[in-house]
Amino acid sequence: MLRHFPFSHFNTRSLLVTALPLSASLSSPNTVRSMSSSSSTATMHSPPVAKKVEHKMEMFGDVRVDNYYWLRDDSRTNPEVLSYLQQENAYTDSVMSGTKQFEDQLFKEIRGRIKEDDISAPYRKGPYYYYTRNLEGKEYVQHCRRLIPNYNTTPFSVHDTMPTGPDDPPEHVILDENVKAQEHRFYSIQAFKDSPNHKLVAYAEDTKGDEIYSVHVIDAETGAPVGKPLTSVTSHVEWANDDTLVYITMDEILRPDKVWLHKLGTDQSSDICLYHEKDDTFSIGLQKSKSQKFLFVGSESKITSFIFFIDASKPEDGLKVLTPRVVGIDNWASHRGNHFFIIRRSEEFFNSELVACPVDDVSVTTVLIPHRERIKIQDTHLFANHLAVYERENGLPKVTVYRLPAVDEPLTSLEDGRAIDFIDPVYTVDPAGSEFNSSILRFSYSSLRTPNSVYDYDMNTGTSVVKKIETVLGGFDASEYFTERKWAPASDGTQVPMSIVYRKNLVNLDGSDPLLLYGYGSYEVCIDPWFKASRLSILDRGFIFAIAHIRGGGEMGRQWYENGKCLKKKNTFTDFIACAEYLIEQRYCSKEKLCIEGRSAGGLLMGSVLNMRPDLFKVAFAGVPFVDALTTMLDPTIPLTTSEWEEWGDPRNEEFYHYMKSYSPVDNVKAQNYPHILVTAGLHDPRVLYSEPAKFVAKLRETKTDSNILLLKCEFGAGHSSKSGRFEKLQEQAFVYAFILKALDMIPELSSSL
Ligand SMILES: *[C@@H]1O[C@H](CO)[C@@H](O)[C@H](O)[C@H]1NC(C)=O
Repeated sequence: MLRHFPFSHFNTRSLLVTALPLSASLSSPNTVRSMSSSSSTATMHSPPVAKKVEHKMEMFGDVRVDNYYWLRDDSRTNPEVLSYLQQENAYTDSVMSGTKQFEDQLFKEIRGRIKEDDISAPYRKGPYYYYTRNLEGKEYVQHCRRLIPNYNTTPFSVHDTMPTGPDDPPEHVILDENVKAQEHRFYSIQAFKDSPNHKLVAYAEDTKGDEIYSVHVIDAETGAPVGKPLTSVTSHVEWANDDTLVYITMDEILRPDKVWLHKLGTDQSSDICLYHEKDDTFSIGLQKSKSQKFLFVGSESKITSFIFFIDASKPEDGLKVLTPRVVGIDNWASHRGNHFFIIRRSEEFFNSELVACPVDDVSVTTVLIPHRERIKIQDTHLFANHLAVYERENGLPKVTVYRLPAVDEPLTSLEDGRAIDFIDPVYTVDPAGSEFNSSILRFSYSSLRTPNSVYDYDMNTGTSVVKKIETVLGGFDASEYFTERKWAPASDGTQVPMSIVYRKNLVNLDGSDPLLLYGYGSYEVCIDPWFKASRLSILDRGFIFAIAHIRGGGEMGRQWYENGKCLKKKNTFTDFIACAEYLIEQRYCSKEKLCIEGRSAGGLLMGSVLNMRPDLFKVAFAGVPFVDALTTMLDPTIPLTTSEWEEWGDPRNEEFYHYMKSYSPVDNVKAQNYPHILVTAGLHDPRVLYSEPAKFVAKLRETKTDSNILLLKCEFGAGHSSKSGRFEKLQEQAFVYAFILKALDMIPELSSSL
């Protein structure tokens, strides 16, 4: 669900929103309202008190004392640290024990919206339909395929459906994650790639949550392993030809830095290193062209990127330069016929332009789509005869489709494009798998009220057909919900977009409704309004849900990002506060009912706005929050520090040091009243060390002057993206909602327990 530049996802403190289960959703609201809740009295432990060990950090004559620095243990084995985290978890359990029964019922309600046995929209690739299958009661998916009878002579059509009759080719389960996951507390597959001849599959597996993968190759028919797994690698792996893989490894700070060539059947130790990126502000990514002819290797920092290409049929020839390394210019490439297509961004052309160059002379570029001040080019999808361009305008995603001249004709300009229309006022659209040789563009679509849908769009006729829409059980009716865009004026006059949803007959819009405001605002990530069936559990209890598309994100184009990073980072926080104030002023809610949520870099947002305006909010949820920004960014031995100096600033520079110190949440906890706060951490999280949230909570406990609830929940079997199973994730969601409802005193029959 992350929408941004192709490589960025492996290298940010981003909220790894996992692909939504194909089926999510709901039990009948009747069950919900009639359920009884327990008011069993819990033994209220007093909150754990973290030991204080003075740790002085001096920089530019400024001394900071961090009494909880000892909570950081990179080996994650220090018994004293683990015991402290366990005490925090026990305290959380005890505070939440009175609502445990309610939480369990909420979990059942959320789980009850899911059609548990379901398949994804099958996509056609070569002679097969590929898809994943969910089974009733199972946490993970099966990766499946079915042969297409007469695939050579069957043209692509938006009306295609996978034949599943008794006489059709049977389903073949290539890999069942449920079987693989049995021995692990955490299990995640991030790449699942069939070989060009479809005989083998390579997949990248993480069994801890630390994002250090092993890549396995199996026979797609028998499941038998082919050779030994590649170990300690990233999830970036692509097939060059039928017996060669290209993959990426990382250095000791988990920075993807080397590209390797692996011949099947040989030992990993004899693999050839094709490229080593020595600059520690850069990270490497890998992608195969849709034409299947080239592999692109990109090296990117937050402001610069450059590309190499590899001929997939001759990978041993190595890398060739496609775009040179020029500071401040970034590039992304695709291929068709005799041309590479490049999305190129520079300081001057900040919203990117699209250019093409001949494969045999990459220095000659032709501009196909010039730079536009108001429209940002996000991504392109190339086909044999078409080009689909994913863009953004005025805070909304757009897709424009162009017909291309025949492959052997010169490519000098584009004809007028055709824009695809979408049904909601605010929505999300993302590219999905399409076959290069077809005229069918597949994309996924959802909004705050429209469940996740997969569309096939015929680029010749403009017809689109829904191939799959997430089933939401329990009587869900999208027309009962209202979604809209609003704009809040920021302190400097900038208009900040928001996306809002609520259930029409359940809100008063007089300031009395509870509201959950979500924010992120970093890395140019666009938090477009997406559907989440579990969210219905709060909407159906009368909540309004809103997303603040604050600066630092990419919703309004590149400058929106530039204006919310480095020495302008505080715009991210003040924009969020402006959105909150607007919602109160417009009577969407009041301070007494305003809840806020952010994860990861959005957790930094939570920490900052809590320190700045604790009076404005009633409840806050900060998931895996990046709250120790200054101390972390001063330490290049922590993953992501070096690659993010261009995002937050390098605090070894005095100006940045003081600026970052002025907002870094752990450094700004004050003796003041704070709202109810829930903080989560993942012990194996490589992106935000568990110690950041732990230190934030310890310092808040010591300093704050209120008696509101403050909880830390640290998952021992998880990393940055919570637990790995689909129901386990819903259980976490139920816990968060139970916390919010408890803090708002909205849990039936439990009103006295706070
Ligand atoms: C597209 O079709 C051409 C001509 O039939 C073929 O050579 C090429 O391999 C196909 N490309 C893909 C990605 O299937």
